[in-house]
Amino acid sequence: MPSEILRQLRAATLADHQRLERFLALEWRTSELGRYRDLLTAFLAYYEPLETALGRLTWNGSGVDFEDRRKAGWLRADLAHCGLAAGAVGPRAEVPPVPDLPAAFGALYVTEGATLGGRQILRGLGASTLPRRFFASYGEAVPERWNEFLGALERQAAASAEASAAIVRTARDVFAGLRAWFQRTLPAAL
Ligand code: HEM
Repeated sequence: MPSEILRQLRAATLADHQRLERFLALEWRTSELGRYRDLLTAFLAYYEPLETALGRLTWNGSGVDFEDRRKAGWLRADLAHCGLAAGAVGPRAEVPPVPDLPAAFGALYVTEGATLGGRQILRGLGASTLPRRFFASYGEAVPERWNEFLGALERQAAASAEASAAIVRTARDVFAGLRAWFQRTLPAAL
């Protein structure tokens, strides 16, 4: 049984997840180096400013070691393998504000949850030579890391109704922002 906060998060982001999945059309986007590079570029342009904002908060006692959950470095490494220097990535996205830990947990729900879908994407990459550090994320430890995150999320949500509302609001805004960024900066699949 999912916890109440997880149920709310899923409900608040379900439509955007489905639209994003449809828009990404991963088979198309991972079938050519240029398209794949564009996809990773769009991820980096959104994740990097988000992680910068998250890195400004004090995570002590939250149950999450944020430094150990950064993903922009994996994207930069994959992009370097694709022949793209970090300086060539272009403009970064504007991301929703994350002024405090509840908002940060909402944002992290999106980027941590994406590691679950990442496993499916990894399988889709098959035997191609495309770099996959980002989609591999925590490797075998994905379920364990997700459960550890969920435990901390539930404690954060239990603090107050306001905390819980801020988590859901920020997750929705971060997801919607990411979808809008992808749709604005990436070509539609043919
Ligand atoms: C075409 C691309 C995508 C596919 C095929 C996909 C697929 C999936 C799948 C299969 C799950 C459930 C995995 C499980 O329960 O073990 C999942 C969960 C999730 N994905 Fe995606 N995903 C995609 C893109 C994304 C993106 C870009 C994000 C956000 C950055 C994202 C965020 C999430 C979240 C937050 C969850 C967790 C839902 C929950 O359990 O509460 N996904 N995805």
